[in-house]
Amino acid sequence: MLKTLVTYYTKTGNTEKIAKSIYNAIKGNKDIVKMEEVKNLDDYDLVFIGFPIYNFEPVNNAKEFISKYAISKNIALFATMSLTAVPLNEQTKDLYNITINNCNNCCKDANLLGVFDCPGELSEVIAEKLISSNDPMLQMFGRIRNATIGFPNTKNIQDAAKFAVEIMNNK
Ligand SMILES: Cc1cc2nc3c(=O)[nH]c(=O)nc-3n(C[C@H](O)[C@H](O)[C@H](O)COP(=O)(O)O)c2cc1C
Repeated sequence: MLKTLVTYYTKTGNTEKIAKSIYNAIKGNKDIVKMEEVKNLDDYDLVFIGFPIYNFEPVNNAKEFISKYAISKNIALFATMSLTAVPLNEQTKDLYNITINNCNNCCKDANLLGVFDCPGELSEVIAEKLISSNDPMLQMFGRIRNATIGFPNTKNIQDAAKFAVEIMNNK
């Protein structure tokens, strides 16, 4: 019988909200386990893998997790990021596309079934650190914190559930 795992890394809780929504939407035999606690994916036919975006790509430990465990596995990704909390303009649209490409590129050795992404609140502590960093791009993220408050919102959480159902139906 099909067994599904939802696994995720979260630093400030946004990705965990999406992980729980996906888990609740899935029918059948399923587990939800934090990425740090996963030993291997041998028992699973399908794995939803969630993470925050750092520097326009999956956070490092998610990239390492995917390259180590997801080889030849059926996987679907879900990511939270601050960029999409504000309407995209020409520049941020490019950054968004780069980000999604980077997510896809991490999965070359896996069977990637889909990618879901939504906005995620930038925590105040982190925003302050980013603003005082030397990297202009990180400073930019720090400054958009106010627009990110409240994400993922109810609609994002519902959309994640719909994504999970679609992946399960197409599997
Ligand atoms: C060091 C750092 C770098 C980040 N880089 C990006 C980025 O490149 N693009 C983006 O959209 N969000 C970026 N963010 C924002 C996070 O992706 C966002 O807050 C995410 O929802 C956090 O998820 P979590 O609560 O599950 O940890 C960054 C956050 C941190 C702390």
